[in-house]
Amino acid sequence: MITPIGVAFAVGFLGWVYQSLKPSPPKICGSENGPPVTSPRVMLNDGRHLAYRIFGVSNEEAEYKIIMCHGFNSSKDMYLPASQEFMDELKICIVLYDRAGYGESDPYPSRSVKSEAFDIQELADKLHLGTKFYVIGCSIGASGIWSCLKYIPQRLLGASLVVPFANFWWPSVPSALSRQAFRKLPQSYQRTFQIAHYTPWLYHWWITQKWFPTLGADGMFSDSDLEILKRLSGGLNHNPEKVAQQGEHESLNRDILAVLGRKWEFDPIIDVNNPFPDNNGSVHIWQGCEDRVVALEFNRFIAEKLPWIQYHEVPDGGHLIIHDVEKCEAIIRALLAR
Ligand SMILES: *[C@@H]1O[C@H](CO)[C@@H](O)[C@H](O)[C@H]1NC(C)=O
Ligand SMILES: *[C@@H]1O[C@H](CO)[C@@H](O)[C@H](O)[C@H]1NC(C)=O
Repeated sequence: MITPIGVAFAVGFLGWVYQSLKPSPPKICGSENGPPVTSPRVMLNDGRHLAYRIFGVSNEEAEYKIIMCHGFNSSKDMYLPASQEFMDELKICIVLYDRAGYGESDPYPSRSVKSEAFDIQELADKLHLGTKFYVIGCSIGASGIWSCLKYIPQRLLGASLVVPFANFWWPSVPSALSRQAFRKLPQSYQRTFQIAHYTPWLYHWWITQKWFPTLGADGMFSDSDLEILKRLSGGLNHNPEKVAQQGEHESLNRDILAVLGRKWEFDPIIDVNNPFPDNNGSVHIWQGCEDRVVALEFNRFIAEKLPWIQYHEVPDGGHLIIHDVEKCEAIIRALLAR
C-alpha cells in the first residue's frame, strides 16, 4: 500500500522539480503570440534578427561610427545622456542593438561571450558601417568588447569598456584578488553567481524561487548612482517593459550564464593582444571608484596587466557613469581622440 503512494508521490515530486528547472518557451517577437516588432532589425546569416536604434547623426553623415553593447537588464533603448549638439558637432552615429534575447532581438540559446563579437561584426556589415568602427560596452556588455578585441581586432578603430563586469573565475587573476572582489558583493549576489558558475542547470529554478533573495538592486548603487537615478526619475531605459518581454530566461538568465556560467573561450589577460601596436587607435577601461557592482581592484589589476589599455578611474563615479552627461561625453571623446 505504502509503495504505490510513495511512487506516485515521488513521480509527482520529480515532475515538479523538472518543471521548475525548465524555463517556459520564449515569446518570440513577431510570432503569433509574441510581442510586435516595432524597431528596425537586420537579419543575420543564421536567420536571427537583431533590433537596433541609431542615436546621433545618421550613418551616412557620420564621421565616427560606434556600436554600443548594453548591460544587464537593459537594451538598445538605454538612456544615453550625450546631447544632440554634441553628437552633431562631432558627427557621431551610435548604433545601439538589443543583444540576443533582449528587446526585439531573437533569442540565441547558444550565445556566448565569443558569439557577441560576431553579432557585432555582422550588424556592422548589414548596416554598411564600413570596414572599421568603434565599440563601447557597458557592464556585462563589456564582455562583448573583450570578445571584439579577441576575435575581430582588425575591424576596430577603438574600444571602450565602461565599468566592465568581470568573470570571477578567470584563471589569470590571482584567486585571492578574485575572492576579495567577490566577497564585496551582497550574499545574495555571491550565492546567485556561484549557482550560475557551478550549477548552471539550477539557475532558472534559483532565480525564480521566492524564498531567498537573488539579484535585487538594494545596496548596489553608490551615492552618485542614486543621484543619477533621481535625476532621471529612475528611468535608465526608454522602454523598460520591452527589455525582457520575450522571457527572462532568454535575456537576463542567458546573459549571466554566458559571462559567469562557464569558462570563457579565452582569457582577456593572456589571449588578447593590443589591436593598435602602431598607436593608431585606443582601448579604454572606465571604472568608478564607488562602483558597488564591479570591484575597483579587479579592473585595476587587469589594466596593470594590459598596459596598452588606457585606464580611467572616476573618483566620484559608481556603476552608472554612462548615464551621466559629463562622463558619457568624456568617455566618447577619449575613444575618438587621435
Ligand atoms: C593601424 O596601422 C596598422 C599598420 O600600420 C594597420 O594594419 C591598421 O589597419 C591600422 N589601424 C587603424 C585603425 O587605422
Ligand atoms: C530589471 O529592471 C526593471 C526596471 O526597469 C526592474 O523592475 C527589475 O527588477 C529588474 N530585474 C532585475 C533582475 O534586475
